[in-house]
Amino acid sequence: MNAARCPLVAANWKLHGSLRFADDWARDFLRRPPPAGIEVLVCPAFVHIAHLARALEGSGVSVGAQNLSEHRDGAFTGEVSAAMLKELGCDYVLVGHSERRRIYRESDEQIAGKLRAAAGAGLKPVLCVGETLAQRRADDTREVLRRQLDAAAPVLSGLAADAFVIAYEPVWAIGTGETATPEQAQQAHAFIRDHLGGLAGGRAADARVLYGGSVKTDNATSLFQMNDVDGGLVGGASLKAEAFADICRAAPPRRD
Ligand code: PGA
Repeated sequence: MNAARCPLVAANWKLHGSLRFADDWARDFLRRPPPAGIEVLVCPAFVHIAHLARALEGSGVSVGAQNLSEHRDGAFTGEVSAAMLKELGCDYVLVGHSERRRIYRESDEQIAGKLRAAAGAGLKPVLCVGETLAQRRADDTREVLRRQLDAAAPVLSGLAADAFVIAYEPVWAIGTGETATPEQAQQAHAFIRDHLGGLAGGRAADARVLYGGSVKTDNATSLFQMNDVDGGLVGGASLKAEAFADICRAAPPRRD
């Protein structure tokens, strides 16, 4: 990990939790807060954001959403806008998670719209990219990452490097117990960083690139110590506050 970039460890609770769960989780997590020099983010379901933000108030832990609408307002029943999330206390929002791409058929174009909406409201988007198992087997990993990044490039190239985050999440490693090896993760992250460097001005090369896909207490240290891995996006293992606290501690803190 590059000491100049502050590591970010993010929890994605997906469709789990309750108000009670959020209270218990915050209490347990804050018993052993992470050391300085590591940023922590928790993304619960929309309806738990305000409650969790209150439970974590003053702790320095950020709260984010798992999705947002690409629209600012209007006749879009069931949608939630970036400004609404900002008002609730969100700092970050996940965009283009593979479950959104696959199950809800979000297109690269729609994802670019969501990135634009998030950035326009002062939210930091965490853009998720990654290849499926079939794409990896066909040796298409780079091509897929290039396509996903290029679709986002018109938005990302207008942002400062600390105004967005990329999460590399190989689809075959999400919720499967299969993790990319630290070397596989490093290879993909180096490619992503290199590609970001080619965007306007090259500033984007300093953005943080997280690894996601079956991150657990026993593999976090080896993943987080790779040069281009700036922390993680953690699903299943983040539901246990103590395990997530341990994963946060596996990130080497930024040294200023
Ligand atoms: P996982 O999920 O840690 O359960 O594999 C990661 C994610 O989907 O963000």
